[in-house]
Amino acid sequence: MASSLLTRQLALSLQQNLRLAAPGSRYVSKTATKTVSEFEYDAPSMKTTVPGPKSKELLRQLGEIQNTGAIHFFCNYEESRGNYLVDVDGNRMLDVYTQISSIPIGYNHPALMKVMTNPNNVSAFVNRPALGILPPENFPEKLAESLLSIAPSGMTKVQTMACGSCSNENAFKSMFIWYRNKERGYATPSEEEVGTCMVNQSPGCPDLSILSFMGAFHGRTLGCLATTHSKAIHKLDIPSFDWPIAPFPKLRYPLEEFERENAQEEARCLEEVEDLIVKWRQKGKPVAGIVIEPIQAEGGDNHASPDFFIKLRNIARKHGCGFHVDEVQTGGGATGKFWAHEHWGLDDPADLVSFSKKMLTGGYFHRDELQPDKPYRIFNTWMGDPSKNLFLSEVLNVIRRENLLEQVTRSGKALLQGLYALQSQYPHLLSGARGQGTFCAINASSDATRDSIMLKARNKGVFLGSCGEKSIRFRPALVFKEYHVHQLLNILNDVLAEHK
Ligand SMILES: Cc1ncc(COP(=O)(O)O)c(C=O)c1O
Repeated sequence: MASSLLTRQLALSLQQNLRLAAPGSRYVSKTATKTVSEFEYDAPSMKTTVPGPKSKELLRQLGEIQNTGAIHFFCNYEESRGNYLVDVDGNRMLDVYTQISSIPIGYNHPALMKVMTNPNNVSAFVNRPALGILPPENFPEKLAESLLSIAPSGMTKVQTMACGSCSNENAFKSMFIWYRNKERGYATPSEEEVGTCMVNQSPGCPDLSILSFMGAFHGRTLGCLATTHSKAIHKLDIPSFDWPIAPFPKLRYPLEEFERENAQEEARCLEEVEDLIVKWRQKGKPVAGIVIEPIQAEGGDNHASPDFFIKLRNIARKHGCGFHVDEVQTGGGATGKFWAHEHWGLDDPADLVSFSKKMLTGGYFHRDELQPDKPYRIFNTWMGDPSKNLFLSEVLNVIRRENLLEQVTRSGKALLQGLYALQSQYPHLLSGARGQGTFCAINASSDATRDSIMLKARNKGVFLGSCGEKSIRFRPALVFKEYHVHQLLNILNDVLAEHK
């Protein structure tokens, strides 16, 4: 009875959500090809500056409860569709930031609405289990259907988690456990180890370390934060570990034009990585693992070549360190491959690959050796959420059915070409366009210019994200078509033309 009532309500909301909006756009290029999915709006539509009056009032109300400094505006998620995010003042923006890169196939996708309205799924939404002790009957089947169907090469195991940080945090723990087990020859831990771990002392709590890179972002929990080096605001006042930090290559773009200089810069960084591994071993804090993003995202969309990553993987292997690829932001298709590290052509797969965001659930894939030897070593109450696996299965169906990775590659090419054109037209404002798939970025001449461009674009109907010191990052959903690229470029062009 209750379930059929819920189903009726969801079906009603589905009908309301599928109502089509009136077309009309002020900014669409006449030359742009128009291919609008049937459930989507066809253009931005702005009624107020953003934030508008309703958003401002809600900001005031929430400000009495929380710090609201990071909030851009309040959203009307019911009215948002596809690539368009609608705010509470009725402004409809082309969303090129997608909830910090975490919306895989746009807002209110009909396929996901169907997952919600399927009565067989209701109990998964209503009853969130403690997965580590009481998983539902269909859990192995659903994992196989969703996550294991896209497991990176060499990996047959997956551990789900809630968010990106807790995925990385537990991936680090897995590397430490694996490293110590190797060191003690897989023998039972000594009484001394068991005793000392209870009071945070060695050898039970060993002085091991994780090597990370300057500019990296791996999350804000305590362990992750020790490997995050993108912005001081994330780290200030928080105690941290004395772990090695290697320089990440500072490359010149476009990469094809600066191959020789970039290769030298990468060689310098790799040399430093090996030096740090040796130094930290001498210091008595051996490096148990290396963690790296395929493209440093929050830190400024910094790229490195496949050759750099392959050599780094070899260094990890040579020194017995785990190799952890953090695909929390790059994973899920935005680079044109499901996993960004597939672009490297590694012979020897990574040891761990963490994910979250577009995957809708957090977690990490790992090699068999990194499976913890005992229960409760990698554990928490929820350890993920089976309802998210249901959504993920459907997202994967849509990606396959609609060839979205090919779509991303096409849209990405159009976007990058457009960014190259804009930077040559406005060289005093923009430079350094770069990207893989639609995972693109461009530098502004200063942080103030970047912020001003982004605000003006928002008021004209394009919502963008920033990264690094002065970069704009483009993080559209996988359903971002060439038509949307043209809308975006036209609006950016208007903003840049008016820029004083
Ligand atoms: C590469 C990377 N790792 C980890 C995280 C942390 O994820 P979460 O914010 O879900 O904790 C992020 C978040 O932006 C990220 O981009």
